[in-house]
Amino acid sequence: MKTRKFTRREVILTTSAGAIGTMINWPLNSIGSPSFAKEKLAVLGGEKIHKGTWPDWPVWDPTAEKEIVDMLRTGRWWRGNGEHVEVFEKKYAELMGAKRCLATASGTTALITALDVMGVDAGDEVLVSPYTFIATYNSVFFHKALPVFVDTDPETFLMDPSKIEAKITDRTVAILPVHIYGMPVDMDGVNKVAKAHNLAVVEDACQAWLAEYRGKKTGTLADLGCFSFQNSKHLPAGEGGAILGNNEDLMDRANSRHNCGRPFGNMKSGPGYLYRGGNFRMQQSQALILLSQMKRIIKDNDIRLENALYLDKKLKEIPGIIPVKAANGATRAVYHLYPFRYKKEVFNNIPKEKFMNAVSAEGIPIIGGYGKQNKDLLFEEAFNSKGYKRLFSEARLKKWRDENNLPGNDQVCDEVVAFYQSTLLGSRSDMDDIVNAIAKVYENRNELAKG
Ligand SMILES: Cc1ncc(COP(=O)(O)O)c(C=O)c1O
Repeated sequence: MKTRKFTRREVILTTSAGAIGTMINWPLNSIGSPSFAKEKLAVLGGEKIHKGTWPDWPVWDPTAEKEIVDMLRTGRWWRGNGEHVEVFEKKYAELMGAKRCLATASGTTALITALDVMGVDAGDEVLVSPYTFIATYNSVFFHKALPVFVDTDPETFLMDPSKIEAKITDRTVAILPVHIYGMPVDMDGVNKVAKAHNLAVVEDACQAWLAEYRGKKTGTLADLGCFSFQNSKHLPAGEGGAILGNNEDLMDRANSRHNCGRPFGNMKSGPGYLYRGGNFRMQQSQALILLSQMKRIIKDNDIRLENALYLDKKLKEIPGIIPVKAANGATRAVYHLYPFRYKKEVFNNIPKEKFMNAVSAEGIPIIGGYGKQNKDLLFEEAFNSKGYKRLFSEARLKKWRDENNLPGNDQVCDEVVAFYQSTLLGSRSDMDDIVNAIAKVYENRNELAKG
């Protein structure tokens, strides 16, 4: 097994992946866990391991209620006649170490606005991670541009910077890396290629609030960084988003674009429109919820990290279970999910869905990661539309189809399973239940394969 490094705060990510199928530390009782060989799996009628509940998400803070009700009673609900969105912007920028923040209606509208400001236009190409929530691709489609996939590193689940250059064409204008599940991408690698080819970089940090790369927060490492505050997120407001940036001009323009094209600082309607734009504004109520949720995010992230590192240590002892590897330079992940790889060949070829059912029956919530969305019909739907036919030649679209072969991403889609971020807010004994449930499934893999 490789060594684990620690920062001064002992919070660095693990940089080692568990060895596949190694029997060195097996059975689990050799690392202080019970053996489950004689117990029946819950899915086959046995008793489940975890009998309690799991933390709920999101968690409401009743101390925020007075201010929200006061705001509602005044009727000053939109950002044009209240201060709360601006207060949130200042506090979020401060928390993240960015010069400026622009609050938006959602992560999707943050991405659309950021790409717009970086000059992404109809007929352009944007290099993007395939392993992500679909909104990342949609933000590119919104501009009638072509999302071009850079394959995923099967060990980190992130954009592999060494694969970027081969995908650049004379239409490429931007790179859109995704810090998926709150795991930082190797941004030095991405920025280096971008600089060499004069490309913009927008970080999709929609799942990466307070993650760190070389000690700096994700979302502050490129031209612009985008966040989501949708209900499941670590900083939730039902819906919401933000753009971070250090360049005043870019941020002024982002503000204008997200506010119907009004000049920055002017909430009144014309004259003097400089840009086209949409209404992608955050509401006062969203900002107040976010300000209250911000009080807990640092502590929650610390708990998630501590539990994730504990799971890494224990789970990599189980044959066929491989915790995620940190990318070069990643110094802190925030685990929007806790993902790991399941090697079915080590589990008697039990399919991933059957493994997940067995773990779930033990009382452990578990989900699969993203599917092979790069093969979804939305691409053909776009390419067959009037606009795309005008904008991209048959030859270009054929090349896109020919290159839409992403072995690294396929592997990640086939193998990744994950626990929810709220599950990571459980106790140490909850984490032991997770480890024991997976060990139990491993030890009973012969029975499960038959059952
Ligand atoms: C990686 C990623 N990108 C973009 C988005 C879009 O954010 P929203 O749902 O707030 O529009 C999300 C939200 O789930 C996301 O996870």
